[in-house]
Amino acid sequence: MSKYKIAWLPGDGVGVEVLEAAKIVLDKLRLDADYIYGDIGWEFWCKEGDAFPQRTVDLLKSVNAAMFGAITSKPVKAAAAELIPELQNEGLTYRSPIVRMRQMFDLYICLRPCKAFEGNPLNYKENIDLVVFRENTEGMYSGVEFNPVPQELADLLRKISKPFTPFKDIPLDKYAISCKINTRKGSERIIRAAFDFAKKFNRKKVTVVHKSNVVRATDGLFLETAKEVAKDYPDIAMDDANIDAMTMWLLKNPYNYDVIVAPNLFGDIISDLCAQMVGGLGFGCSGNIGEKLAVFEPTHGSAPKYVGLYKVNPIATILSAKMMLEWLGEIDKADKLQKAVAEVIKEGNVKTYDMGGSNTTLDVANAVAEKI
Ligand code: IPM
Ligand code: MG
Repeated sequence: MSKYKIAWLPGDGVGVEVLEAAKIVLDKLRLDADYIYGDIGWEFWCKEGDAFPQRTVDLLKSVNAAMFGAITSKPVKAAAAELIPELQNEGLTYRSPIVRMRQMFDLYICLRPCKAFEGNPLNYKENIDLVVFRENTEGMYSGVEFNPVPQELADLLRKISKPFTPFKDIPLDKYAISCKINTRKGSERIIRAAFDFAKKFNRKKVTVVHKSNVVRATDGLFLETAKEVAKDYPDIAMDDANIDAMTMWLLKNPYNYDVIVAPNLFGDIISDLCAQMVGGLGFGCSGNIGEKLAVFEPTHGSAPKYVGLYKVNPIATILSAKMMLEWLGEIDKADKLQKAVAEVIKEGNVKTYDMGGSNTTLDVANAVAEKI
């Protein structure tokens, strides 16, 4: 029996290709693992009405970790024609499987390191080394949404909500509500994870991102919690910034920042910005981490227009595999992998189109594997 059991979830589009690339590198490292393929993605929504079937949920309950590729999400109405006839009248709704997975398995940390590799022609500036901790289970992604608005909710809001009055005269089907729910527990654990990381890796500062000057209840709670948690880490500085200002300051001086922690949607936004500063989607690696399970994925999507071309940059996925090795405690292998990627980028001989080259996804994987 192998030491690890890893769920292998390629999903749709180029997800398949980038996972193939990651596998080449993991095999070269001789990771002692069984990789178990799992069904997930648009294809299964069309065939079964569920993009994240129960058998895949069960698989995830039985593994040490998972690698996930990407999923295509289309507007459900436009896609209804693709459903098998038996499902056409079911009135199905589509919720992103990765968002469901994060909530179902309580993968509350979305960890997104953004490190500039020397020699990467796509670097915004050299030596950027930021780490984003995004809350991954609540906030704007809680999934408590109404369109149309139920009468009971409208009645209640009419009674208790003072500041926002325009909706009072609008018919129920002419407005929509998405609830942003932040809990004290959810806020505390992601903030603590950011500080623990800073402590472990000798980082100097944690920056808390929010919009508490306007979104007082939820972001106020997040910031208040951060200030309390920070007291347990006297050696690590803490500052905070509103999300809007943060995007400007980050571009202006990325070196002012180190570890960044944010509620779900702001973390989603800020992690794309940070990824762009170190080369864009081809470099955006990510881990969805809980107490018992962690799922690693590139942050890019399924890129339907590139499917089958083996064109996209696999480095984001290869670096996600490196994060998986760290989570498994395979630190030597993780270091080897990181060094191999750094060498390939620095030499600049093997590059996908985004970096100005014409090599394929698998050429890059093989080049990295050769350095190991
Ligand atoms: C990400 C993506 C996802 C998100 C999408 C695909 C649901 O943007 O992982 O950042 O919004 O979380
Ligand atoms: Mg995103």
